[in-house]
Amino acid sequence: MTLKLATSLDGKTATRTGESQWITNESSRAKVHEMRRQADALVTGIGTVVVDKPRLTARDLEGNPTGRPLLRVVVDTDGRMPSDAPLLAESGDVLWVVGENTDVEPPTESVMVHRTGLVDGKVDLEEVVKLLGSKGLHNVMIEAGAGLAGAVIQAGLVDKISAFIAPKLIGGSDAPGPIASTGISSLGDAVRLKNVNHQAFDGDILVEGYVVRN
Ligand SMILES: NC(=O)c1ccc[n+]([C@@H]2O[C@H](COP(=O)([O-])OP(=O)(O)OC[C@H]3O[C@@H](n4cnc5c(N)ncnc54)[C@H](OP(=O)(O)O)[C@@H]3O)[C@@H](O)[C@H]2O)c1
Repeated sequence: MTLKLATSLDGKTATRTGESQWITNESSRAKVHEMRRQADALVTGIGTVVVDKPRLTARDLEGNPTGRPLLRVVVDTDGRMPSDAPLLAESGDVLWVVGENTDVEPPTESVMVHRTGLVDGKVDLEEVVKLLGSKGLHNVMIEAGAGLAGAVIQAGLVDKISAFIAPKLIGGSDAPGPIASTGISSLGDAVRLKNVNHQAFDGDILVEGYVVRN
C-alpha cells in the first residue's frame, strides 16, 4: 500500500481558494503516471473524483495512454460517483466500493460494486485492503485527498510513502495539507519512515520510504 502525496515546500496541496493543478512539475507527473502503470490497483476517494475528475490511467505528456492499473478503485460510502465521471469513460475495470446500505447500480459493464460494513459511518478500509489482497492485487497505490489519505494513515494501512515536494511556497493557514484525520498530539507518535530515498525531478524532490511498524 503506497500513499502518493504531492505538496509544496510548505506542505500545502492547494491554495486557500482550492487551486491545486499543478503543484508539481511535468517530470514529477510523468513519474506518477509510470507508478500508476505499474500499480495493480489505484485507489481514490469520492472527494477527488468529484473535484479533480481524474481518469486514473497512465498517459504520456501529450496525453496518449501508456497503460493503466489493473483495477481502479473508488471509495464512496453513499454512492455519489457521477455517471459522467471521466474515469468511467476509460477502458479497464473499476471497483466502486460503497457502504452496506447504499443502493447503486453499476453504470457500465466494467464497473463492479462492492459493499462493505461501515466504520465511523464510512467504508471499511481494512475490508477493502483484504478484498484487493484476495484478488491478488498487492501493489496498491493510493492517490487521494486529505480525507482518505488521513484515514488510511490513521488505520495503519500504509506501507510506503511516495511524497513529491515542489520547491514553491503557497502559504495561508486555510490552504490544505495532504493528510487530514485527527493527527497526533505527541511528536513521539509521528509516523516515521525507514529506508528513505530521494530523487530529483527537474527541481521537484521525490521522498520515498517505508512506514516503521511499532
Ligand atoms: N496533492 C495530492 O496529492 C492530491 C491528490 C488527490 C486529491 N487531491 C485534492 O484533494 C481534494 C479532495 O479531498 P477529499 O479529502 O475530499 O478527497 P478524497 O480523500 O479523495 O475523498 C474523501 C472522501 O472519501 C470518502 N470515504 C469513504 N470511506 C472513507 C473512509 N473510510 N475514510 C475517509 N474517507 C472515506 C468520504 O466521502 P463519503 O463519506 O461520501 O464516502 C470522504 O469525504 C481535491 O481538492 C483534490 O484536488 C490532492
